[in-house]
Amino acid sequence: MSPRSEFKSKLGFILAASGSAIGLGNIWGFPVQVAENGGGAFVASYLALTFLLAYPVLMAELVIGRYARANTVSGMLAISGNATRLIAIVTGYWGIVTASLILSFYAIVAGWMFAYGAAAIFQLAGLAELAQWMRDFSVSRNIIFCAIFMLFTCLIVRSGVSDGIERWSSWLMPALIALIIALIVYIATLEGAAQGWQVYMQPDFARSLQPEVMFDALGQAFFSLSLGVGTMMIYGSYVSKNENLPRLGVGIVLMDIAIAILAGMLIIPAMYAAAHSGVEIYNASGSLVNSDGLIFAVLPALFDNLGTVGIVVSAFFFVMMSLAALTSSISMLEVPVAYFHEQQSMSRRLAVSVSAIIIFIISLLIIANFDQFFGMVISFTTRYSEPLIGLLYCLFVGWVWHRNKVLQELKCGNPALEQGLFWKLWPSYVKYVCPLLILLVLWQSVA
Ligand code: TRP
Repeated sequence: MSPRSEFKSKLGFILAASGSAIGLGNIWGFPVQVAENGGGAFVASYLALTFLLAYPVLMAELVIGRYARANTVSGMLAISGNATRLIAIVTGYWGIVTASLILSFYAIVAGWMFAYGAAAIFQLAGLAELAQWMRDFSVSRNIIFCAIFMLFTCLIVRSGVSDGIERWSSWLMPALIALIIALIVYIATLEGAAQGWQVYMQPDFARSLQPEVMFDALGQAFFSLSLGVGTMMIYGSYVSKNENLPRLGVGIVLMDIAIAILAGMLIIPAMYAAAHSGVEIYNASGSLVNSDGLIFAVLPALFDNLGTVGIVVSAFFFVMMSLAALTSSISMLEVPVAYFHEQQSMSRRLAVSVSAIIIFIISLLIIANFDQFFGMVISFTTRYSEPLIGLLYCLFVGWVWHRNKVLQELKCGNPALEQGLFWKLWPSYVKYVCPLLILLVLWQSVA
């Protein structure tokens, strides 16, 4: 096999991995879940599950990835024994299928972001009718912008890890954070926003423990950290042996949480401000009128108050969101691409084309049967598949892979590991606690 490329720097990896984690899940998904699941109650549940379950699973993925230096199928095989070969292979393939399904709906939503960004630009150029078409929900609009988004994703993934993925992720994050903070401050001054802050900041802890809230929070925690499909395993496979993995993992988790919390500070007050100015947010029975379209209904309505400045802000916001979605989508496409490239010895270019075409066909099927499939694919992948595959990763690290090998791998870049808290807790934690907790949350929601 040819030598595998690595991220050029530690910062490069942190930026790329947090670029993968930070995306529509944080800014489109998280606030909607908050709005649907009792405000602060959901936030508390999500934070708890991120630390208790998602971080340990993230570490399992990163350590398998750096050890095996391969795609998810051969990665799982590398740590399995003869008796568990078949389960390892199934887990690897299941991750590839899940990653592809996730990208198929992700590209549709990212296409909406693109469309709204383009709409603002066209409006500035005086092409109001075209701009309106881009904002209206239609099959043709959805197909065209989904295709454009997939094309961009392919172009970046084709150029490989350090030139493609690393370079793109580096400058985006600081710009995105600055824009969100500026918008939080603006929205906080609007009438009605204060009520949103109240809902967001005052958790009703009894509700945090409700099975449905925990179930949604678990799915959100896994989705937001790009877990349970092999994305982080593959990113781990490009990390140098000199890096301290547990510390890198903490950095990624903190960045991801910070952006989600910030997005909530923006969107939840924005919802109430928009409701105050007449946009219908909740219906009479108290559920969201349009959860998938929430931020598209709320934000432009508020930006409009600002006149031309508002259109510029709108363009900025949605273009940045599209870029944040790109640094995530490239990490999803990398999962099937690494498999086709390494395992089926396709060239990288061919692997990209084959994967992207298959995924785009699935996107078309979803678009054509939107009401039927869109929610179903999201629920199947993020609520069930990701936690279950995460559970399998834990079982492999805890029960199948030799404990000494795990230790050796984690000690690379962190020679004092054995003396620290991480090594005292994590191995038995992923062996017993994580699998049981994941099962408990899933089982409760089914029961
Ligand atoms: N975490 C990203 C987000 O929040 C989405 C994402 C990227 C993802 N890669 C993934 C989700 C792999 C699940 C699996 O938008």
